Amino acid sequence: MLIVGGPASTRLAREVARLTNCGFVEVEAKRFPDGESYVRLTQDVKGEKTIIVQSTYPPQDVYLIQLFLLVDAASRSGASEVTVVVPYLAYARQDKVFRSNEPVSAEVILRFLKELGVRRIVTVDVHSPEVFRRVGIEYINLSAVKVLARHFLGLGLKGASVFAPDKKASRMAEEASKILGGSYGWFSKQRNRVTGEVSMVLEKGQVKGREILIFDDIISSGGTVMTAAGVLKKAGASRIYAACTHTLMDNKTYRKILDSGVEEIVSTDTIPTFTSKVSVAGLLAEALKNLRDK
Ligand code: R5P
Repeated sequence: MLIVGGPASTRLAREVARLTNCGFVEVEAKRFPDGESYVRLTQDVKGEKTIIVQSTYPPQDVYLIQLFLLVDAASRSGASEVTVVVPYLAYARQDKVFRSNEPVSAEVILRFLKELGVRRIVTVDVHSPEVFRRVGIEYINLSAVKVLARHFLGLGLKGASVFAPDKKASRMAEEASKILGGSYGWFSKQRNRVTGEVSMVLEKGQVKGREILIFDDIISSGGTVMTAAGVLKKAGASRIYAACTHTLMDNKTYRKILDSGVEEIVSTDTIPTFTSKVSVAGLLAEALKNLRDK
């Protein structure tokens, strides 16, 4: 088995190769003057189970095209099968038609990968796994909840209440609360599809006088976590922390979230950034070892 380090995830891929004891294949990548992408595997992958690690955070479209091109390169080079590890899958939130005449972007991305001959996709806390089933492609959706919760346990948040921004994400909160040894709860959330504005109502959970950890799959504009923090403060929370698997926020958004009353924000390295204090390399390595030994 060989691990290919896509340009978006070279560091993570190297770590996964080290943990799995697999060979690491470097990718040569450049942009042409007109903006088109070029990639090349720096060695043959003939006869090898080939794992391409490439997350698809901003610039999403560039990283997606590089991923498609790498899959083609690996197939042409004679890989016995190609698995793509896409820790953060771009466009996953557009998993249905919300307003008439929209595309289902998540399906489009998966259909491209399937058409290119990808055997399976490994991802982390994908927004909605149903889309893989609809497209009919094998997938492994890993969860970073435990590693994030352990990080907060290490910071002394034992017994904290964990909150999810909506009912769908409450399983993340429940899983984290098992590690932190406190209770969990959730909100109901509405987002205006045109303005993006978020409104939230606390549905269930213990808040008064408690340390709180808000758990979400993604923090992007920060609207969700800031609205949740506002409601929790009003309900008497003592200290509020936020954890997410993937963060797309910039420094300005980070500051705004802290100003809204959140003490600290921690994310994983599915998207490598200044809040990535937890690595998913171990999770990915375990999943890949299982595939290798199959
Ligand atoms: C949405 O359903 C997701 O689970 C997240 O809650 C959302 O993407 C967070 O985005 P933002 O930070 O822009 O509110």
